[in-house]
Amino acid sequence: MEQTPLLEAHNLKKRFPGTLALDDVSLSIMAGEIHAIMGENGAGKSTLLNVLTGSLTPDEGRIVVRGEEVRFKSPIEARAQGLAIVHQELSLFPHVSVMENILVGMTPSRFGLMDRKKMALLVSAHLRRFDVQFGPEAIVRDLSVSQQQIVEIIKALMTDVDVYIFDEPTSALSVDDAARLFAVLRELRGAGKAIVYVSHKFDEIFQLSDRISVLRDGQMIGTRPIAEVSADDVIKMMVGRSLNRIYPQKSLERGPELLEVSGLEAGSKCRGVSFSLYEGEILGVFGLVGSGRTEIMRALTGIDPKSGGRVSLHGSPLRIRSIQDAIQQGIYYLTEDRKQQGLYLKMSIRDDVASVRLEQLSRHGMFQREAAGRIAGEVISELSVKASSSTQLIGSLSGGNQQKIMVGKWLTMHPRVLILDEPTRGIDVGAKAEIHQLLRKLSTERIGVIVISSELPEIVGLSDRVLVIHGGVVAGVLSGDDINDELIMEYASGLHTEQLTR
Ligand SMILES: Nc1ncnc2c1ncn2[C@@H]1O[C@H](COP(=O)(O)OP(=O)(O)OP(=O)(O)O)[C@@H](O)[C@H]1O
Ligand SMILES: [Mg+2]
Repeated sequence: MEQTPLLEAHNLKKRFPGTLALDDVSLSIMAGEIHAIMGENGAGKSTLLNVLTGSLTPDEGRIVVRGEEVRFKSPIEARAQGLAIVHQELSLFPHVSVMENILVGMTPSRFGLMDRKKMALLVSAHLRRFDVQFGPEAIVRDLSVSQQQIVEIIKALMTDVDVYIFDEPTSALSVDDAARLFAVLRELRGAGKAIVYVSHKFDEIFQLSDRISVLRDGQMIGTRPIAEVSADDVIKMMVGRSLNRIYPQKSLERGPELLEVSGLEAGSKCRGVSFSLYEGEILGVFGLVGSGRTEIMRALTGIDPKSGGRVSLHGSPLRIRSIQDAIQQGIYYLTEDRKQQGLYLKMSIRDDVASVRLEQLSRHGMFQREAAGRIAGEVISELSVKASSSTQLIGSLSGGNQQKIMVGKWLTMHPRVLILDEPTRGIDVGAKAEIHQLLRKLSTERIGVIVISSELPEIVGLSDRVLVIHGGVVAGVLSGDDINDELIMEYASGLHTEQLTR
């Protein structure tokens, strides 16, 4: 006999001003399956999940849970019917403890009278599962992006429901944390739960899922057993054609030394760091989570104070005491956290792109709206941002398209040195290739590009040289044929670092 699906969508439609985000989408989710959903940035994945879990109301169509039609007025109602979701954007209260964030919204009869000790105990058990370095009393604001992501995930896992829905849960997770999450998801599947899993990472999808559904421009292209499709088949479903996934050609010769960092010191995660960046090269920076790669770049660009070391540009020493100093020298740093970076969600694309070049765009104290619109238009077309116009609010773009704007606005600034921390996080295959091409193009314009990435294939495919960080020191600098997964991982895990550390 046919099993009744745990969750069904029938002919869902959802329209936003200027976009038909869901166009007659149907889907069914069975008990005991991990169901992947893929699609380009802006294809409608998050919208679908939000409609299914009560954050958005569909314009048309039906949602059926365990054979019965439902109409959710809120996410709380959806949860009561057995659907829990981890959203793409972090939504924790920054000033509140981990345990309060995790337990917020749980039924008061169970947790209302609970004292802090009991709360801590309950949450600790789950924290242990992810082997985290912080306790239940830690304040969310003090956690890294990946730690916050884990808190979000645990929050969803705390509720006992039938369907767990994840919108790009690993975009900020380390490989190890992702592996822990996958183990938990497989356990849940074994217990007869259903998992809906959105990701842009093909390797995860093929490792983890049983079936895959693909959305394109708001339409459901189809659902297939994962065993019956290849990555190329999925790409074809996503974009309607085959796609060139080959990395741009590496630079054949490097220019003169552009940036020289020597003996940089800043706390325990940046100890005596020295390296050079040459004109026209893409320098990849790889390190495991916690290795210090972000701390090094923060010290270098004046965000965090340094206690020693020199930074020179074209041979002349620089005084970088704040990020403004760095920007003034043409050294731009795109940090890893979209929200902290101040991508102003309530701003239009035009104003956000303009916000980094206000000086240039104001004349006699007047903001040059048309010029700003033109530059925003360039960013939109160069990076194929899915937006209705340059006046669309950033907050109403899909997650990946927000990321494109964030990267794109710096690309138009004619930097001398561009440092990008995880620039392609959450970006779909096609757009990723476009960003790689753009970075290569910049490098041929004699700009020095530093790319920090936790995706090894990206580091290997893109970099002319690779700086590997371990324990706050430069564990190795690799070039040519030495740029391969095995060697990079050896250095990143500290295999060759003993003789270097004091
Ligand atoms: N609140 C909103 N107002 C206007 N348009 C919106 C809103 N939310 C989403 N959209 C639009 O709907 C479309 C689908 O967006 P959605 O966030 O579902 O994409 P996605 O598939 O999740 O993409 P990504 O991979 O980038 O996260 C996009 O064109 C987006 O700009
Ligand atoms: Mg999304």
